[in-house]
Amino acid sequence: MNKKWSALLMTMVMILVAFVGCSSENGDSAGPEIGIVLPTRDEPRWVQDETRFKEALEGTDYSVEILFSQGSSATELQNVESLLTKGIEVLIICPHDGDAAAAAAEAAKKEGVTVISYDRLITGTDAVDYYVTFDSVAVGEAQGQYLVDQASGTENPLYLYAGAASDNNAFLFFEGAWNVLQPKIADGTFVIKNSEEAIALQEKAVLTREEMGKILNQVTTNWDFNEAKNKAESHLTAVGAADKGDVFILAPNDGTARSIADTFASDSDVSSYVITGQDAEKASIQYIIDGIQSMTVFKDVRSLVTDSIGMALAVLDGQSPSTTGSYNNGVKDVAAKQTEVIVVNQGNVKSALIDSGYYEASEFTGLE
Ligand code: GAL
Repeated sequence: MNKKWSALLMTMVMILVAFVGCSSENGDSAGPEIGIVLPTRDEPRWVQDETRFKEALEGTDYSVEILFSQGSSATELQNVESLLTKGIEVLIICPHDGDAAAAAAEAAKKEGVTVISYDRLITGTDAVDYYVTFDSVAVGEAQGQYLVDQASGTENPLYLYAGAASDNNAFLFFEGAWNVLQPKIADGTFVIKNSEEAIALQEKAVLTREEMGKILNQVTTNWDFNEAKNKAESHLTAVGAADKGDVFILAPNDGTARSIADTFASDSDVSSYVITGQDAEKASIQYIIDGIQSMTVFKDVRSLVTDSIGMALAVLDGQSPSTTGSYNNGVKDVAAKQTEVIVVNQGNVKSALIDSGYYEASEFTGLE
């Protein structure tokens, strides 16, 4: 991140620190006040969040500990328990599995700790106090709209992929994509090639969670790059050359999009493909510059970090954080703060990611 932006982010947090007063100075506890738990180090997305948290808290008096759950709800619970023994007052947690994380949230609540769900919602418990996230339905709608905008004529082959069913966001992304794609499937612009469940439901504009679950079970990548590759290979093997040619692919995020794009690119019956993504990961931005991935949905992690730290500092100062809406997690309406998303393709990599200070131009090749 360039100096201008890190200075600005620091200033924003310093203002927050000044505004919230320096309870840390009064806080004589040795342990961290704020505990942060992220899903896994194995995905660039979450390493990005760790970096942004560290940048934002650098130079402040607030002591924070960041732990990773490495794709395991058991490790996640252990992480939370170890932070609780160290006396945290606020827990910022992005659950590996939304339902399973209820146990970790309840353990924190029992200790009087405020629980802030980060990016993904913890579901099925009233032990969540706040939620900071991006507009995940808008992510899916942007992905669907991108495919619609690139398509002409009828009977365009469409391949659907989704995130992990254990992640509440995966349903919101798919709901958004379906909102835009379903009318174009029903009118014959697209023909689904890799999911009988989706074909069976293609006349239905609004799907129930259960119906979406059936489709996700068939086309989930579990956010795993290798699973995405294996699924794409089996789907391409299962269909004939007539189902390929110029194809359209709904990929749920950048990591899986790169695997799926590489797999479709290596199939000689695929003459061209349009593929979506999410997260603006560096490797995918290079793919977009090189024309190997078509687009991504940029979610500015800096704003999520600022919002969640802002909430934590307000709580540490005995104030109630400001929120802009709420999400129902199956048990309660969780007060939430939501950030908008930005579509990035070859045409606006520079303005959206370089001029905004998210990345340096020197981190890429071929950038005009
Ligand atoms: C989602 C998150 C996405 C994506 C994915 C994979 O919950 O909102 O940005 O990265 O997890 O970890």
